[in-house]
Amino acid sequence: MDNRAGRRFRSREWFADPQRSDMTALYLERFMNYGLTPEELRSGRPIIGIAQTGSDLSPCNRIHLDLARRVRDGIRDAGGIPMEFPVHPIFENCRRPTAALDRNLAYLGLVEILYGYPIDAVVLTTGCDKTTPAGIMAASTVDIPAIVLSGGPMLDGWHAGELVGSGTVIWRSRRQLAAGEIDEEEFLQRACSSAPSAGHCNTMGTASTMNAVAEALGLSLPGCAAIPAPYRERGQMAYETGRRIVGMAFEDLRPSRILTRESFLNALSVVSCAGGSSNAQVHLMAMARHAGVDLRPEDWTEQAYDLPLLLDMQPAGRFLGERFFRAGGVPALMWELQQAGRLHGECASVTGRSVAENIQGREATDREVIRPFNAPLMEKAGFLVLSGNLFDFGILKTSVISQRFRERYLSRPGHEGVFEARAVVFDGADDYHARINDPALEIDEGCILVMRGAGPIGWPGSAEVVNMQPPDALIQRGIQTLPTLGDGRQSGTADSPSILNVSPESAVGGGLSWLQTGDRIRIDLNAGRCDALVPAEEIARRQRELPPPPVPASQSPWEEIYRSHTGQLADGATLEMALKYRRIAERTPRH
Ligand code: FES
Ligand code: MG
Repeated sequence: MDNRAGRRFRSREWFADPQRSDMTALYLERFMNYGLTPEELRSGRPIIGIAQTGSDLSPCNRIHLDLARRVRDGIRDAGGIPMEFPVHPIFENCRRPTAALDRNLAYLGLVEILYGYPIDAVVLTTGCDKTTPAGIMAASTVDIPAIVLSGGPMLDGWHAGELVGSGTVIWRSRRQLAAGEIDEEEFLQRACSSAPSAGHCNTMGTASTMNAVAEALGLSLPGCAAIPAPYRERGQMAYETGRRIVGMAFEDLRPSRILTRESFLNALSVVSCAGGSSNAQVHLMAMARHAGVDLRPEDWTEQAYDLPLLLDMQPAGRFLGERFFRAGGVPALMWELQQAGRLHGECASVTGRSVAENIQGREATDREVIRPFNAPLMEKAGFLVLSGNLFDFGILKTSVISQRFRERYLSRPGHEGVFEARAVVFDGADDYHARINDPALEIDEGCILVMRGAGPIGWPGSAEVVNMQPPDALIQRGIQTLPTLGDGRQSGTADSPSILNVSPESAVGGGLSWLQTGDRIRIDLNAGRCDALVPAEEIARRQRELPPPPVPASQSPWEEIYRSHTGQLADGATLEMALKYRRIAERTPRH
């Protein structure tokens, strides 16, 4: 509990060291010039960092530049001293070659700041996809009290009387553009209409998913994730978050006291029944490993595949963030899981109370948007983990496989859940764009589009490029999607199965490196298998005789460092050498 008298904060080592008054003076002088007084810095009150992820380069998180004022008010009112500082920007849509490089870079920077400066506890401002895991990963490594404040989704987008959601409208309109049904101007208008205000993506894409994850893990105040960025409640949540982190500092309520295997399983279940992003697999694994929690790749199938789809939100459903918020947000989803006996209610949280206590009485208020557990949108709608002779790990989001595909390919009597397709293999996105419309590839409805060279080492960083659309000629014939498979990630969804995050990737010699266009691939969802129907001797011959697929050279120092230390997507694509550093704030850094 809040033991104000007894607690000596780590910042005292900087500002109130009786042995080194010369150093104390040096540490103090600029802060004093900035307006803080020596009395308050030496008062024993906690110094609360506000890790600011908003900037002009991070428009999805830009709302935090305003919200930080409310956070400061909350911190001050509760007796803390706020200090705001910048985090390396991460902007999903704009960063080349991919923002995936930035998650680990922001993580590294944040670890050094939280460890090396006199910060006793921290508010992690989150929003765009990777800003959430980066902050949580760093807070785990350092292990000082930390609370997540998301910036919230944009308002719902509308275009010509229809809801248009971030990303989802782009993927759909791209196909219509290819089919000649709309022109460039209409395409741009739809895209802009899908982003009507400040905030992060308004679908249950990676950003909403990861902020729901933070809340499900117990790291946000209940109800935080779903509040739209411009709403009044968002500012109030910022204030309450500022207040609460001060209490957490006094209680020494650190990530290591909140994050457990059970809390990660709660998060995994929320993602599954919300139809959340496949990127959650990578980030949950990364956060768990930095927290020292035993989360396993197969947990997605074993713990949550059988969960139903409860949330009717794009891309798996119809609605967007505002409706999700008004229906009750993440607490209402967790409430459903609890009623069904599928929630670890005993888990701790930033409130100081259990998860079960936090969600008491939080039943959904809009049953069109959040369905009851026993009357869902879809049964068995979680993620399936696959393996086979092409890879040890790949993940498939089943909630977005269309009824049409299910009926046509997955429901044949005697072959339920099994389909075969002819592989068409591309070496990265440039190769795909250059050749997808080449008639010589003979792409038809019986094909699976394969992307290799898109993993953490190959790209580098791992790119969201596995969502390949069929050749224009096929789209014009009404075939909107084909199954896809790749060692990269996916943004948005197709109606056909996409096998993603395949590990090991081709760049480190994974099975996709020997796969050739024309090979047949057999996918058995019941057995969790995906195999190329290529004899073992032929595989061995190709591995011996054929040159490995091309891997582009690193173009920046960080790309080179990233490549030499990052693991595979199955394992969270973390900096493997960083995992041995845990709870480092238990020791004060050297003078
Ligand atoms: Fe930043 Fe979607 S691009 S939240
Ligand atoms: Mg995305």
